[in-house]
Amino acid sequence: MLRRCQASDIPGIYEVEVRSFKPDDIYSVELLKFLCAYCRDNSYVYATDGKVAGYIITCIEGNAAHVISIATDPEHRRRGVGKSLLCTALKLLAEGRVGEVFLEVRVSNEAALRLYKAAGFEVAETLRNYYSDGEDGYRLSLRDRKKAREFCHSK
Ligand SMILES: CC(C)(COP(=O)(O)OP(=O)(O)OC[C@H]1O[C@@H](n2cnc3c(N)ncnc32)[C@H](O)[C@@H]1OP(=O)(O)O)[C@@H](O)C(=O)NCCC(=O)NCCS
Repeated sequence: MLRRCQASDIPGIYEVEVRSFKPDDIYSVELLKFLCAYCRDNSYVYATDGKVAGYIITCIEGNAAHVISIATDPEHRRRGVGKSLLCTALKLLAEGRVGEVFLEVRVSNEAALRLYKAAGFEVAETLRNYYSDGEDGYRLSLRDRKKAREFCHSK
């Protein structure tokens, strides 16, 4: 079940975060709490049996939606949770509420890149040394409403 992020979800989000990201990339509980509140309108958790199976934090920046963080707990991957979460951001584009959805991703993150490419995202920029361990990142962008709509309506 998809629902908006609330303060009581923070421990569950943090658990998914710790199980999903490299130690240097993990957000603190305080930062997650702030983001979940500040970007509440577009931040969601996917809950199964009352537990957080995945989450997305998306903040509006001008005319764009910035996906700040998205993760699915390893136990729940490859079942469409990531796609459902990503589509909460793509819906903003599909409905014309923003003109772009963008995000940053490690160049080595094949699973995430597959998901984003399937959704129609394109590389807008390579971000040299973007991550604290020196790895490059990509800034991916999607502006094509039709692609966003088609991806989210496909199985
Ligand atoms: C990226 C991530 C969120 C995907 O979550 P998920 O719930 O497993 O994604 P879905 O099941 O919705 O996958 C949708 C599609 O994405 C692609 N995909 C997802 N994981 C993949 C993998 N490991 N290998 C290849 N393709 C993958 C596939 O096209 C998949 O469709 P399919 O299963 O029908 O082939 C998840 O792997 C994750 O949390 N990773 C660690 C955190 C992270 O890297 N977040 C992104 C930071 S930018």
